Parts: sequence; C-alpha cells; structure tokens
Amino acid sequence: MMSVSKYQRCINPKCAASYGVDEIMFACPRCGDLLDVWYDWEQLKHPGSLAWFEKRWGKREKPLNFSGVWRFRELLPFCEKKYCVTIGEGQTVLQQNDQVGQYAGVNSGKLYLQYEGLNPSGSFKDNGMAAALSHARMVGVEHVICASTGNTSASLALYAHACGMKCSVLIGSGKIAFGKLSQALDYGAQTIQIKGDFDDCMRQVQEVCRQSKLYLVNSLNPFRLEGQKAIMYRVLEGLRWREPDWVVVPGGNLGNSSAFGKAFMELKQLGLIGRVPRLAVINAVGANTLFDLYENQGLRFNGGEVDTARIDAYYQKLNDSGYRPKTIASAIEISRPVNLKKCLRSLEVCRGVVREVSDEKIKDAKAAVGRYGLGCEPASGASVAGLKLLRQQGVIKADETVVCILTGHQLKDPEVTVRYHREEKGEFSNRPVEVDNDIEAVLKALEK
Ligand code: F0G
Repeated sequence: MMSVSKYQRCINPKCAASYGVDEIMFACPRCGDLLDVWYDWEQLKHPGSLAWFEKRWGKREKPLNFSGVWRFRELLPFCEKKYCVTIGEGQTVLQQNDQVGQYAGVNSGKLYLQYEGLNPSGSFKDNGMAAALSHARMVGVEHVICASTGNTSASLALYAHACGMKCSVLIGSGKIAFGKLSQALDYGAQTIQIKGDFDDCMRQVQEVCRQSKLYLVNSLNPFRLEGQKAIMYRVLEGLRWREPDWVVVPGGNLGNSSAFGKAFMELKQLGLIGRVPRLAVINAVGANTLFDLYENQGLRFNGGEVDTARIDAYYQKLNDSGYRPKTIASAIEISRPVNLKKCLRSLEVCRGVVREVSDEKIKDAKAAVGRYGLGCEPASGASVAGLKLLRQQGVIKADETVVCILTGHQLKDPEVTVRYHREEKGEFSNRPVEVDNDIEAVLKALEK
C-alpha cells in the first residue's frame, strides 16, 4: 500500500516515479536510477526548532532517545518506533581541536573533528545500519547482505545479529584491514572473500540481490542514508545549532556526502537552518573518480539532468585500460562510486568542492589526528589532509568554521599505523625503540 506521507522516489527528474516505503528495491524499477526516501513534511509531525531535540538528552534511559540517530527520529520518519533498531549508535563527540587546526592551517577555535569512531562497531556506518535494519525489520527481512571495504561488513554483522537476521558479506580478497575483518568474523557474518576489489564485490552483490530475496545494505539502500543524515544533526548539535562554514568528508562510495547534502536540503526546506554549509569531498589520488569527473571534466548534477554518457565513457575507459584503484586508505579504494549522482546533488546544494590527496598526505594527517586528536583510520585522515590542501589553495579561509568528519576508529587498521611509525618517513613518525633487558639500557633509552 502506498503511503502518502512518506515514499521512495527516483532521483531522475524525468522519471520521478514513486513507490511505497514498504517496497524492497535498490534502484528505480522503471529507469534504474537511484532512489531517495521523501516525506510530506506538512502531514508529518516535525519540531519547530532543532534545539527541541535536546529535551531528549535527559531521558537517556530510553534507548531511542539515547540513540544518536533515533533521537532525531522526526527528521527520518519512515518507520514506526516499534521497528526502530538501536544498539547505542551515535554517542560521538564533536571535538574542537586547535593543534590539528594549526596543522591544517585554520585559526584557533575554528576546527572541529567529528569522531565517528566512537560508534559501536567503530565507524560512521552504524548510523546508517540502525536505519537500514529498522527498515529491514519493518518489511520482514531474514537475510541481509553487503559488499564492503570493511566497515560496512563489520557494522552490518553487528546489527544483523542484534536483530536475529542472517548476514553475509562480500569483501575483496586481501583488500580489507584486519581490524574490520576480525569484526565481521567475530560478529558471525558469513564472510565471502572474492578474488577482486570492492567494485567487483559491489557488482556481484547487486546481481545476488536481483536474483534472490536477500536484502542489500550498501548505501544504494536509501533507508541507510536516512540514518547517516544524523551525523550532520549531531554536528549542528555540537555547534549549539550554528551552521559551520564547511564540512569536509572523505569520499568513497559517496554515501556520506549524499546523506549530508540531503540532510541540509531538508533542514533548509523545513526552516530549521538558515544557511547550508559548504561541502568538501576528499578522494585519495589512487581512487579519484569523483575528483576527475567533477573538477577536471566539469560533471554537474544540473538539476538532475546528469550527463550519464560522460560517466559511462569514463567507466569504459577505466575498463579498457584495466584500471584498478589503489590507496593506503583501503576504505575508500573505490573507482565506481554507486552514489555518484546523489553526491553531485549534494555538491550542488552545498556549493561543494572535490579534492584528491596523496597517500603520504593521508598518513601524515592521520598521524596528526593521532598525536593531537582522538586518532582515526587512514580514510578519515583524508578529510584533514583535504582541509590542509584547501587552506593552502585559499579555498577555505583561516577564520572559517570547519568540521572534518573522522569516519572510522584508530584501531581499524593498525598495520598502516605501525608501519608509518616504524619506517620513520612521516612527519609524525614515532619509532618504538628496542633495548636489552637491562636497567642501564632502559635508563639510557629514557634520556633521549
Ligand atoms: N571512511 C571510512 C572509514 C569508510 O569505511 C568509508 C566507506 C568511507 C570513509 C567512505 O564513505 O562510501 O560514504 O563515501 N566504506 C565502505 C565500506 C565503502 O564498505 O565499509 P562513503
């Protein structure tokens, strides 16, 4: 049954077909484009101000009020409370950090780090998973699946077992950081390693879902992105409901950037914010499809009339040359981001920019966050490296308020971290010292 006040809608304006929220689909059946969840805000109850949500802070014994996603439930009202899944996601902090700010070149008091590593599975994915699995429960799903560079699989495995659902994950063989693989295994996911990379896994998982009844939990799932909007609500909350000038986020499959733009678009429409922050999406040099298409080739959302021939030609070229993305930031080692069009919409809404940063810069920025902030995994370091570059280019001004999203926990990829410090090649390398089992030797080492 089609519900009037909330529905799924194709993002292609020429199609704009709509479907009920109780239908399971991950592409528009009519034209194959991406789907959004839309609400008829006039009919649905929503608060008159963002500060209203603070009333829930005092009721933290209530799991949905404790959740950093569901305490904003009026802003993602696609399901009834009885279906909402929570395991305590979104207990994050917005950390004002002058030392990382100085590293990146912004004035004192202007840089904030949004540390999503504090989520139950250690990454921002839990925001999306809380929402997607609530939808899965609402429509009676038994078996969920995703392709992943690691964090999605860890998060899905955790939420699936919390919901009593069977969970399968597809990961590229040798392409996943150990912390993340250990989580998928430990949380009981059926873990299938494909001899290929993330893009291959993504293609396979979509085919699996076309041929079976498995429920797809990649960010093609529009309900997942509803949950990820909450990251921006918490950023605004941390800033006492003042909009930052910039939000800087790493770009992989482009789910976050898509969700952030939608969050701001809706908040503006609802009159809950006065101005939309600008968005900077940061690619790794070795996985820079968005940068190439947006900055070099001028691809734009263009009110929904995206030049898809250009995208097809780009991917054809990648195929013909046998291109494979390669970056130390394995979480964003993606060359065919499935949310490309939605991200272009966000870039339009948020007057966005895209940049690419090298692995060396990513590692140094990650180490700066380790030294001065709460630590993060390599992909997250891209946001700080991207900010530093945008400051050098003068795109972001020193006195603008900037929020860098740190997408994953420091412990996700210890191998990269330890190598960086051991090899002593980086700006912040901190090599461990080996000494004899002897007090004189220990004292001598301590003098240095
Ligand atoms: N940072 C981390 C730590 C990630 O795990 C990911 C994506 C991203 C950034 C990129 O976010 O896709 O929204 O642009 N990881 C996915 C995964 C692809 O499978 O875990 P995005």
